[in-house]
Amino acid sequence: MTNKELKDIIILGIESSCDDTSASVVRDGYVLSNVMATQDVHKKYGGVVPELASRAHQQNIVPVVDDAIKTAGISIESISGVAFTRGPGLLGSLLVGTSFAKGLSLARNIPLIEVNHLQAHILAHFIYEKGKETELPKFPFLCMLVSGGHTQLVVMKDYMEMEIIGQTIDDAAGEAFDKCAKIIGLPYPGGPLIDKLAADGDPKAFRFSKPRVANFDYSFSGLKTSFLYFLRDELKTNPEFIQENKNNLAASLQKTIIDILMQKLILASEKTGIKEIGIAGGVSANSGLRKALISEADRYGWRVHIPDIKLTTDNAAMIAINGYYKFMRGEFADQSVAPDARWKF
Ligand code: KG4
Ligand code: ZN
Repeated sequence: MTNKELKDIIILGIESSCDDTSASVVRDGYVLSNVMATQDVHKKYGGVVPELASRAHQQNIVPVVDDAIKTAGISIESISGVAFTRGPGLLGSLLVGTSFAKGLSLARNIPLIEVNHLQAHILAHFIYEKGKETELPKFPFLCMLVSGGHTQLVVMKDYMEMEIIGQTIDDAAGEAFDKCAKIIGLPYPGGPLIDKLAADGDPKAFRFSKPRVANFDYSFSGLKTSFLYFLRDELKTNPEFIQENKNNLAASLQKTIIDILMQKLILASEKTGIKEIGIAGGVSANSGLRKALISEADRYGWRVHIPDIKLTTDNAAMIAINGYYKFMRGEFADQSVAPDARWKF
């Protein structure tokens, strides 16, 4: 008997918005596979090179999808629908995933489901994993989405009903990590490396300026400048300053970013009265941020939701789960759908 006859809903998700090619199979809300091919080619350039990213996606997409289907132990015939990231992201990269999904939808005669990448990061909280107890957030749910391209405070009223109540007016939190990491000579992406170095540093060793921004909005470009000028001054008297203080620099920078993020999250929780709190996106992998959320939870009576590390950075399981909820609602795209690099939800 095939899975379709059992009435299982099996969604294949495809993510190709930036520099990770990923495919995942989700069955009735449970993740069966989540395969990722990261692109090391960008490391030496200190950031993602769009042309190289789309070329690598083209090379990776077929083996990654194949692997996701095999790992899930399903057949291609049993897939109920194919979900893909329509945006936001790099146009050339998005095109690869979109074209693949459209082709599969046509060939197998299954629904095509467009997914917003940012909405998907938040929906990562709703993925079930076999053998693991997942306490799903209750609505309304206040989620801080922190990634390489976005920093937003989002109120989720239902699976598909989300409202952005605050966001960065310039750089994203992940950009602040990556740009400052680059200043101290770390390769791209520097966020995870700062996290590692910070573990052996003193977060109070140095102070960097914090922004004053209205409401629930954020700003990170001033921090980058403050970090740069501080180092420029120190290097004048001690050319070895960075080398001698790497851990303390990382710890102090990380603490500043976390303080900025948490201050607005606390304010938003107080003003909206929401105590179901979560974090999502690549920066939510940061160990300091995860700890800060847990310690503030005690103080403010929050019920916190922190996604599994592998579901924080770009992955296709979050696309597949979003596809699953859209499938249940019959929200399908047609073959005329095109990627949208700046797609807003
Ligand atoms: O969500 P994501 O994978 O891609 C985007 O949609 O942007 O986020 C990538 C960002 C990068 O800026 C990366 O440095 C950051 O997440 N990141 C971290 C950590 N892991 C990933 N930043 C700080 N600490 C980490 N452990
Ligand atoms: Zn992302």
